[in-house]
Amino acid sequence: MSLKTITEEYREKFISRTPKSAELYRKNVSLTPYGVHSNWRIFDPHPIFMARGKGSRIWDVDGNEYIDYNMAFGALAIGHAHPILVERIRERVENGTVFGFETEYSVKLAEVLLKRFGFEMIRFSSTGLEGTQLAVRLARAATNRPKILKFEGCYHGSHDSLLVGVKPDPLHAGHPKKPRSVPAGPGIPKDIADQVVIAPFNDIYAVEDIMRQHGNDIAAIILEPIPMNMGVVLPKKGFLEGLRKLADEYNSLLIFDEVKTSGKFYRGAQDYFGVKPDIIVVAKALGGGYPFSAVMAKKDLMELIGPRKVAHGGTFNSNPLSVYAAYITVTEILTEQNLAYAQKLSDELAKGYRDVIEDKRVDAHVVNIATSGTVFFTKEEISNWRDFVSKVNWGRWYAWVLGILINGVIPQALGIDEQWTVSIQHTKEDIQKTIEIFDKVLSEIKGRETVPVKVEEAI
Ligand SMILES: Cc1ncc(COP(=O)(O)O)c(C=O)c1O
Repeated sequence: MSLKTITEEYREKFISRTPKSAELYRKNVSLTPYGVHSNWRIFDPHPIFMARGKGSRIWDVDGNEYIDYNMAFGALAIGHAHPILVERIRERVENGTVFGFETEYSVKLAEVLLKRFGFEMIRFSSTGLEGTQLAVRLARAATNRPKILKFEGCYHGSHDSLLVGVKPDPLHAGHPKKPRSVPAGPGIPKDIADQVVIAPFNDIYAVEDIMRQHGNDIAAIILEPIPMNMGVVLPKKGFLEGLRKLADEYNSLLIFDEVKTSGKFYRGAQDYFGVKPDIIVVAKALGGGYPFSAVMAKKDLMELIGPRKVAHGGTFNSNPLSVYAAYITVTEILTEQNLAYAQKLSDELAKGYRDVIEDKRVDAHVVNIATSGTVFFTKEEISNWRDFVSKVNWGRWYAWVLGILINGVIPQALGIDEQWTVSIQHTKEDIQKTIEIFDKVLSEIKGRETVPVKVEEAI
């Protein structure tokens, strides 16, 4: 019997498989904080440096091949280097990539997206961040109110006005039903954080209370209709409808941040749940792997945007490369039929995981919807941030991730708050192989000690 924890054994294997990544990491930490250009990519013992991707697979700089369920944090619903897109983009690149002018495809894409998601006008940007930033600015301008209500644990991009109550340490985050507005870190002025009112997800009575107190100052309620920055949290029955009603009652706007979900459901989570927001932000997967986001709303709202009106500009907004990639993606590749195929595979993955968990009698459960899901190492339900922080065994989760990685699968985006994405290029064989590896790893972990991980240190 080994005296080491299973986590230590896996870490050693991980390190021995990835020497080139380790070397690049050692160089990069002297060049950029934590050796990565986005805090969400920090990984212990060191991040993996990637070389190339094709279909459902990705290869690291050491030549290790992985079945990839990270899929660029959900930005690759169409999988890596989709052959149709590769060919079309090659032609596009030869004809210029950024003009500072609109192109024919910005018109075509606008028409397609407005029809698909059911709105009247649209504006394009490059990132989810820019999308939610514009949505919030628009809501403040439309209502002439300063405050935004957001949910604890939801993430809407790396900009000051919404970097509040994102992953707070519960010790400093106040009462669970009336959380404090905790800035994500230094550099976000208290005055900005004070403009954000925080509510617990899935607790409509708590939101009602909060709206009674702040409702007349609230420009908008913003949320991920399915929070996918706490693993995967499903909205309870009636919760989204309740928010819609509250927004109407207080003349606030309802913003759905569908940066992730817009590429997982054909017409977004808004259509799946039958709740229509006033403003929707779509991004990630719709760009087919190119930087793209869009804000959509009714005409009267969108027409508030303009010179000396609501500001919105960007050198790379509606650039020909992203717009063309998004057009080809949404019209030819991420079709309703292809998405249904990926959703079915994702269900099969979830079922396989559930069977293994039951068979091994491990304290875990799977939550999945559309093309995404996650394994929570607890039997208890996770319905908001406080559950997420306090109920899950993160030591087990970390051992599981390492164990799967060293067997050639990236089980999900590697943050604790992430989930898997099954792309339209994954196959039944990928799913089968992944379930077999899951079985092997859970057998190894079961009954073994893992290194405890504190959630505050893991994010
Ligand atoms: C729900 C949600 N909104 C917004 C963003 C920000 O998008 P981006 O990273 O493109 O700025 C993310 C990023 O993961 C997200 O998950």
